[in-house]
Amino acid sequence: MSHIDPFLLDWLNLLIRWGHVIAGISWIGTSFYFVGLDLSLRKDVPLPKGVAGEAWEVHGGGFYHIQKYLSAPDNLPPHLIWFKWEAYLTWITGMCLLLVQYYLQAETFLIDPSILPLTPWQAVGISLASLAAGWFIYDGICRSPIGKNTGLLALCVFALIVAAAYGFTHIFSGRGAFIHIGAFIGTIMAANVFAVIVPNQAKITASLLKGEVPDPRYGIIGKQRSTHNTYLTLPVVLMMISNHYAFITGAPAAWALVGLIVLGGGLSRWFLLRHEVGDDLGEIGWAVPMIGAFLAGAMMLTQPQIKNYSGMKTSDAEALAIVTTRCTACHSATPTDDVIKQAPKGVIFASVEDLKRYAGQIEAQAVRNQSMPLGNKTHMTQDERDKLGAWIGGLK
Ligand code: HEC
Repeated sequence: MSHIDPFLLDWLNLLIRWGHVIAGISWIGTSFYFVGLDLSLRKDVPLPKGVAGEAWEVHGGGFYHIQKYLSAPDNLPPHLIWFKWEAYLTWITGMCLLLVQYYLQAETFLIDPSILPLTPWQAVGISLASLAAGWFIYDGICRSPIGKNTGLLALCVFALIVAAAYGFTHIFSGRGAFIHIGAFIGTIMAANVFAVIVPNQAKITASLLKGEVPDPRYGIIGKQRSTHNTYLTLPVVLMMISNHYAFITGAPAAWALVGLIVLGGGLSRWFLLRHEVGDDLGEIGWAVPMIGAFLAGAMMLTQPQIKNYSGMKTSDAEALAIVTTRCTACHSATPTDDVIKQAPKGVIFASVEDLKRYAGQIEAQAVRNQSMPLGNKTHMTQDERDKLGAWIGGLK
C-alpha cells in the first residue's frame, strides 16, 4: 500500500518513534509524579485556609514547597499550568507510528493471511473502528450504574481488554494484534484525559473562579478516570515493546497472557506507589509473591513447545537451502521482497556461517515460534521448521 521510498519511510518511522517515546516518557513521568505527590501530601501540619495538604521536596539544587488546594485559593493566578499535551502528543505520535509502521505496510506487519485474509484497507478500517469502539464501550461502562461500583467496574474494564485481545489475535498478525491491544488501552487512556479529566477540571476551575462551589461529581469522575490511567500505564508499555519478543506475539493463548500482564502490571504499579510513599512493607508485601505468580503464569503460557529432534538429522546444505528459499527474500544484502528493500535489522543469511551465528535467533523466530518468515509470506512449512530445528539441535 505504501509508495513511499523505504529509506524515507524508515527515517519517518525513526523520527516519529523518537517523538512517541519522548512524549510517552513525559506523560508517564507527570502521571507518576502527581499520583506520588498526592499520596505524599502531609495533612498533619498547620496548613493555610483551603489547603488540603503539603509536601516539601528537594530536586536539582533547590527546595520545592507544594500545597494542594481543593477549593480555589483567594486569588487563582491566571498562569495555571495544565498537564495535557503529554497525553495528547503521546496518542498523536502513536497514531502516526501506527500509520507508518502498520497501515502503510499492512501486508507486511498487520495482516497474516493464515489468521484472516484481509485487504490492507479492510485491516485499516477494522483497526480504526476497533480503537474508537473501545473508547465508547469503556466510557459507556464507566457512565452506566456499573461505574458506581469500583470493584465491578474494574472487572468489566479488565474483561473488555481481555476480550479485545481475543478479538485482535483472531484478526491481525501476532505483532499487529499486540500493538493493537496497546493502542486500544492507550486510546482509552488518552481519551480519558481529553474527554473527561481535562474538561471536568476546566468546569471545576471555571466555577471556582466565579466563586461558586463546583459540582463534586466532576472531581470524583475525573479522579476515577485518572486512577484507571495509573493502573493501565505499566501494562500498556509492555504491550508496546512486546513486538520485539516472538514468544509474546506468537503466544497461543494471547488473551490469557494479556490478562496476566494487566493484572501483574497493575499490581506492580500499586506496589511501587505504596512503597514510594513509605507504606510498611509488611502491609503491602503480599503483592510481591502475587506479581511473581502472574509472571510465572505468563512464562508458562509463553513456554515454547520444545520438540525432540534427536531422531532427525539435517545437513548444512539442506538448512541453507531452506533458509535461502524462505528467508533470503528479505534477509539478504539485496532483498527481492516487494516491500522490504534492506535486510531487516541487518540480519543477512548468505552462508552456513551466517546461519550458525544467528542459530539461536533462528530457533526463537522460526522454529519455536512462527514469527518468521514475517506473516509467513514465503509459505514456510512445518516440516521445514522441524528440519531447521534438527539442524540447530545438532549444533549444540
Ligand atoms: C517478508 C520478509 C521476511 C522474511 C521472508 C523473513 N523475515 Fe525475518 N525479519 C523481517 C523483518 C521485517 C524483521 C524485523 C522485525 C522487527 O522490526 O522487529 C525480521 C527480523 C528477523 C530476525 C531478528 C529478530 C530480532 O528481533 O532481532 C531474525 C532472527 C529473523 N528475522 C529470522 C528470519 C528467518 C529465520 C526467516 C526465514 C525462516 C525470516 N526471518 C524470513 C522480515 C522477514
